[in-house]
Amino acid sequence: MKPEYTMSRREFVASTTKAAAGAVLINQLPASLIASTGGNKRRLAMIGTGHRGSGMWGTSVVKDYGDYVEFVGLCDINPGRAETAKKMMGASCPTFTNFEEMILKTKPETVIVTTVDGTHHTFIAKALEMGCDVITEKPMTTDEKKLQLILDAQKKSKNKIIVAHNYRYTPTRAKIKELLMQGRIGRITSVDFHWYLNVYHGADYFRRWHRLRDCSGTLLNHKASHHFDLLNWWLESEPMSVHALGGLEFYGKNHEFRSTNCRPCPLKDKCQFYWDMTKDKRLMALYADNEKYDGYLRDGCVWKEDIDIFDKMAVQILYANKVQVSYSLTTYSPYEGYRIAFNGTKGRLDHWMHEKQPWPTDPYDEIQVTDNFGQAEFIRIPTIEGNHGGADPLMKDKIFKDPTLPDPLRQAANVRDGAMAVLIGVAARHSIDSGKPVAISDLTDLVPQAVKPE
Ligand SMILES: NC(=O)c1ccc[n+]([C@@H]2O[C@H](COP(=O)([O-])OP(=O)(O)OC[C@H]3O[C@@H](n4cnc5c(N)ncnc54)[C@H](O)[C@@H]3O)[C@@H](O)[C@H]2O)c1
Repeated sequence: MKPEYTMSRREFVASTTKAAAGAVLINQLPASLIASTGGNKRRLAMIGTGHRGSGMWGTSVVKDYGDYVEFVGLCDINPGRAETAKKMMGASCPTFTNFEEMILKTKPETVIVTTVDGTHHTFIAKALEMGCDVITEKPMTTDEKKLQLILDAQKKSKNKIIVAHNYRYTPTRAKIKELLMQGRIGRITSVDFHWYLNVYHGADYFRRWHRLRDCSGTLLNHKASHHFDLLNWWLESEPMSVHALGGLEFYGKNHEFRSTNCRPCPLKDKCQFYWDMTKDKRLMALYADNEKYDGYLRDGCVWKEDIDIFDKMAVQILYANKVQVSYSLTTYSPYEGYRIAFNGTKGRLDHWMHEKQPWPTDPYDEIQVTDNFGQAEFIRIPTIEGNHGGADPLMKDKIFKDPTLPDPLRQAANVRDGAMAVLIGVAARHSIDSGKPVAISDLTDLVPQAVKPE
């Protein structure tokens, strides 16, 4: 049974009038998000109490930031999952299935949006309209119409949106940013960026709601928005045009047998992609025990014929500052990781990362900086296990503990940053469908700038 994630919802913000681009989209954390030091904790509500919501934004926030914030409401379309999440988090607030009711009854100051990607816009716009600040998971949304709705809601509101682009906070990526800001390789002219998802992690996207365009906007949006945001941030510029190729040639219909999901599958002995979810108590409690409410199968078959996303993608991006990027995303690689190289007028910066390998890997990440006509310097940064390479706690410290912390590397992502990351993926999807390049300025009222506006 298809999850009810894409059910039609009342459009909360009517206007899609085009207006001047970006004027109000300032790059700073909202003052209203600053946790009170006078004893009053900031009132948080959450919509979408699944894996990411209950874990990274739930249990950990209750445990590590309890002096600064408190949950006053939890909401999910699946009432069982909201209750399960509440227990897992150790929260004592009420749970809801109706978002507006939660906001009216619990009066949160900040709403955390951790639902399925294709539904974020509804809750972001409504939360702003009801006077709340918003922390939204990436990708901020999944298409240009939903994005324009968010941009219009933001223009009408004094409240602010933080987009949780956590990848910026990984120490190695921060070091790359620092080197680029110092002009270590001169002016950057082009970038080669290739990301490999392996047959474990990559396959998992094809088991879940991510397999449907309506829910995820494809992996060009759900997954690559992380990578496109990193590019935008590293390059300090905005994308101008996108040309892409993509296909679905491995998962989905490209197989001789299939089932609904792994647990009851009669073919588990002959399927290399069989995954035994029953070994994971947390996932069983969050999803299997609550299937009766929405029919959502967390261990869906990777060979399902309804899969309508790409499993191989190649994207060319031209930035407004003339940097050109070659990007690719592969979803069935034997190993997981990425390679990136920045080509500059004075040299080249290379970085590669192999993560989540079944075999031992080096305990450090490496950056190689090579000067033209010169030598190579190798910079090693110790790896941090879990929490997206140590990024998640750093981002949460900044959001919850001390939003006034200096931000010399400009790691805090605002609504314009969230929009630009989404726009590359949306443009790439349209380009694959049409076979033509897509101009970013044709999608919403945002006009790409050569130097990212402050
Ligand atoms: N930044 C990161 O590294 C990172 C990692 C994982 C997930 N995420 C993001 O976090 C979000 C949640 O992902 P997840 O892995 O927890 O997925 P999930 O499926 O575990 O959770 C999503 C939850 O949203 C609920 N939901 C769906 N539609 C709803 C609606 N209309 N109203 C109310 N609730 C609704 C579902 O019932 C579910 O409980 C996604 O946007 C995802 O992209 C980010």
